Amino acid sequence: MARSTAAGEVRVWDPFVRIFHWTVAACVATAGVTTEPRWLHEGAGYIVLPLVLARIAWGFVGPRHARFTDFVRGPSSIAGYLRALRGGRAPRYIGHNPAGGVMVVALLAMLVLVASTGALSETDRFFGVQWVSDLHAAAGNLLLWLVGFHIAGAVISSVLHGENLVRAMVTGRKPAVLPGKVQQEAGAAAGPGLNPR
Ligand code: HEM
Ligand code: HEM
Repeated sequence: MARSTAAGEVRVWDPFVRIFHWTVAACVATAGVTTEPRWLHEGAGYIVLPLVLARIAWGFVGPRHARFTDFVRGPSSIAGYLRALRGGRAPRYIGHNPAGGVMVVALLAMLVLVASTGALSETDRFFGVQWVSDLHAAAGNLLLWLVGFHIAGAVISSVLHGENLVRAMVTGRKPAVLPGKVQQEAGAAAGPGLNPR
């Protein structure tokens, strides 16, 4: 269980995850809207690569809800969650829910691909190599679509569960329980358990 705070909240997102998130979001937004001036696009992109590599390492050694083992699920858990979501009975997760976990992995993978192909396209070896530029541009555009779905997912999930997930990514805290909601501790093996009161 995540650590409790005085106000009936639990600490979910550690400072590194939050700083990583909002810095990467600002850099991707900057690189996404500016291919010119070049220094701005490339500078923003260069900040992303080490941050994402550090986040991936954090996924193995960081605190509970930052770990991949906490939110990377098999196809049956993901399908089960999506079925429950369609039926309006999706359990509430403290960490990333199974569908959110898929999006997190997709975003991290695309961030590595986009930032590394961008950086490669400026090296002596790959400068002017068409497939590298094409791959970078295509992956960059796909990443921006994924970000759009990601933001929509965060907003929809917030509305469905009546909790502000964006605020949680700022403060790092979430209410320990939501009244009337079935709650699933992320990482638990079995199906949804009842909300502890
Ligand atoms: C613009 C580029 C963005 C990228 C590349 C991005 C990427 C990510 C990633 C990788 C995570 C997983 C965090 C982790 O475990 O380390 C995440 C989580 C999250 N992001 Fe973003 N994000 C972006 C923008 C935004 C924006 C603008 C919002 C707010 C509207 C937002 C809201 C959230 C929320 C609420 C979570 C936590 C979801 C949950 O509770 O499971 N993101 N994002
Ligand atoms: C995560 C960060 C990044 C994002 C989201 C991103 C996104 C994009 C996108 C969407 C395009 C295509 C624009 C179009 O359709 O015309 C593009 C082009 C380009 N990017 Fe990035 N980029 C990133 C990082 C980088 C980095 C680190 C570099 C180099 C150091 C770089 C260098 C370039 C160059 C040179 C082009 C022009 C490609 C060409 O026309 O040959 N980008 N980027």
